[in-house]
Amino acid sequence: MTTIGIIGAGHIGSQIARKAVQLGYDVIISNSRGPETLGGLVAELGSGARAATAPEAAAGADFAVVTIPFKNYLQLSAAPLAGKVVIDTNNYYWERDGHVAALDNGEATTSGLLQEHLKDSKVAKGFNHIGAPDITTTGTPSGTENRRALATASDFADAAALVTALYDEFGFDTVNIGPLSESWRVERDRPAYVVRQNAAELAANLAKAPRLI
Ligand SMILES: NC(=O)c1ccc[n+]([C@@H]2O[C@H](COP(=O)([O-])OP(=O)(O)OC[C@H]3O[C@@H](n4cnc5c(N)ncnc54)[C@H](OP(=O)(O)O)[C@@H]3O)[C@@H](O)[C@H]2O)c1
Repeated sequence: MTTIGIIGAGHIGSQIARKAVQLGYDVIISNSRGPETLGGLVAELGSGARAATAPEAAAGADFAVVTIPFKNYLQLSAAPLAGKVVIDTNNYYWERDGHVAALDNGEATTSGLLQEHLKDSKVAKGFNHIGAPDITTTGTPSGTENRRALATASDFADAAALVTALYDEFGFDTVNIGPLSESWRVERDRPAYVVRQNAAELAANLAKAPRLI
């Protein structure tokens, strides 16, 4: 049995939890306020899920999903995530997160900054350019014509492979952008951001993305 530790229980975290439990994963889900605030969600998810603190979810995970407002990423405990794949759904909204000069200037990427913080983890971008409701409703079996595709990027081939396998289980094809230094191609407001696209369309949208918005 594989355990997914989900850090963040909002729109995206809860949707990933729902689909993961449906697929037979064990889920440990967490938020910033504490497990006692997640009773309703855990009751809905059933016996495949439990709530914990964020460090406990990280410690109990075979792999983790970080899905919190970008501005809070430095709050994450790195130690319990060391050696693990960490799927990063986070997007930078300066209106919410405050300005980060290196992102505004195109000198960094959101997932690259998370990788710097979680230096002993293997960060892979995932689920950042799909609206939360679509995670459980727009997946289709492998081989379906015009299947929806999602992008990943990582500095670690095994982390990108894990996301690719998970996407497939969730019902999506994958386009691998390459290293995190290229992951800006699927960041906010680029052509591939939160639109329904198949693999060929996603690849084309990634290729034409401007570095600065
Ligand atoms: N919404 C979408 O459709 C969508 C799509 C793609 C990507 N994203 C990105 O994915 C991330 C999550 O989005 P969302 O819409 O799911 O956000 P959300 O609904 O606001 O939920 C955020 C969750 O993160 C938790 N959290 C905040 N700081 C934390 C910390 N330090 N440790 C543990 N948990 C923490 C919050 O817990 P509390 O409630 O207890 O504070 C909450 O459960 C964001 O970066 C967003 O830009 C969102």
